[in-house]
Amino acid sequence: MAHDTQPLSNAQTRDIEALLHPYTNAITHRQVGAHLIESGEGVYVRDDQGRRFIEGMAGLWCCGLGFGDQELIEAAREQLGRLPYYHLFGGRTHEPAIELAEKIKELYPIPMARVFYGSSGSEANETQIKLIWYMNNGLGRPEKKKIIARKKGYHGVTLVSGSMTGLPMAHNSFNLPFDFVKHVTCPHYWREGRPGEAEAEFVARLAQELDDLIVAEGPETVAAYIAEPVMGAGGVIVPAAGYFEAIAPVLQKHDVLFVDDEVICGFGRTGNWFGAETFKMQATSASMAKQLTGGYVPLSAVALNAEMADAIEAETGRHPVFGHGFTYGGHPLGCAVGVKALEIYQRRDMVGHVRKVAPLFQEKLRSFGDHPLVGEARGAGLMGALELSPDRESAAMFAQPGKVGAKLQAELLNHGIIARAMGDALGLCPPMIITEAEIEELFAPFEACLDAAYAWAKAEGHLGEHA
Ligand SMILES: Cc1ncc(COP(=O)(O)O)c(C=O)c1O
Repeated sequence: MAHDTQPLSNAQTRDIEALLHPYTNAITHRQVGAHLIESGEGVYVRDDQGRRFIEGMAGLWCCGLGFGDQELIEAAREQLGRLPYYHLFGGRTHEPAIELAEKIKELYPIPMARVFYGSSGSEANETQIKLIWYMNNGLGRPEKKKIIARKKGYHGVTLVSGSMTGLPMAHNSFNLPFDFVKHVTCPHYWREGRPGEAEAEFVARLAQELDDLIVAEGPETVAAYIAEPVMGAGGVIVPAAGYFEAIAPVLQKHDVLFVDDEVICGFGRTGNWFGAETFKMQATSASMAKQLTGGYVPLSAVALNAEMADAIEAETGRHPVFGHGFTYGGHPLGCAVGVKALEIYQRRDMVGHVRKVAPLFQEKLRSFGDHPLVGEARGAGLMGALELSPDRESAAMFAQPGKVGAKLQAELLNHGIIARAMGDALGLCPPMIITEAEIEELFAPFEACLDAAYAWAKAEGHLGEHA
């Protein structure tokens, strides 16, 4: 981990020589070296120096059951012993794939007809768009292909998923986004609301913007709209009140499908099984991954409603074969662990647990809302963020975005907390199993760390005219 002064360890040197790290600045990485995590238990992980951290991000928003869950480990062991690999190509199947798909259909709040598997969230969202195109070709409307996504949304990094992601870092130097993807305003009232604009007016403006865009592009050319319930990697942005209710009629009016990206919010995170319930999203299909297996095995799923499934199945009949699928899509290990994870969520009532502990989590988080470094404290269920700002009133950004967020992240790490700075939004998404005592422990160093980051920001001139 960030050692500016200590020499790099052998593992850190080997890491630098052997790996290109995702979402890492390789030049800085060569100087500071990797942070080597060796083991995990419950909400904690331990590094190679023996230091213990609360994993305040559940890894990458995925380890809802924490680390070292013996039931998940045993389910994986059993499946490896019975059938370590099989695929679903050419009509083959296996029991865990069927069982998990049935379970997903049972749990998702809107009736879904078919499940298609991949290994990652990016693959799920890439599949969504391929299937929608395939369907529209089958329905004789080949021009209906454009996709609407949102600024600050995150949908992955493959070519189309990366295009739908509304963050410049996923586009820069990659020649993205593709021009058939259009981005609309992020429904973040605090930052995007205009002076004097009420939240309901803001929502009405965004619904009008969506309508105008579809009309300008031609509704016959717009296939789908994609959204996360709470935007995760964009900075844990909770949609303005009434946002999804306001846009649903616009999508319906123009016959535009609604893809619900539940990759982070699915399986209890927001205090319901899916974010679609918490935020009243009228989706036509959904993407799931991450907590689907508690993060222990890579697996993603796309759930399609009956109308889409029927159209896609009919179209497969016009070709020798349905030419889409991944070697590891529906891997038996992932499906078996997924079945077990969902069974555990139900048996241990994880939704009930999240509802029970989330009020304390949100209260603690929001208690820092009036710290001079904090612009907004926000969240839903067991996820949240402190967005840092030199001026709360005007929602001002720092002149050099990301520096103060990185400083706070480093301060917290030194105090045993793994959090994630997304620009200047410091995000938290702890394992859902976290207890109230562990929530107290998670937030205990925040005041001191915020004070230290504030003093640093002031000394370094990051507060500008607001110092
Ligand atoms: C909402 C959402 N969708 C899609 C993805 C992409 O998933 P993956 O990294 O597994 O490709 C992510 C990853 O963080 C995500 O948060």
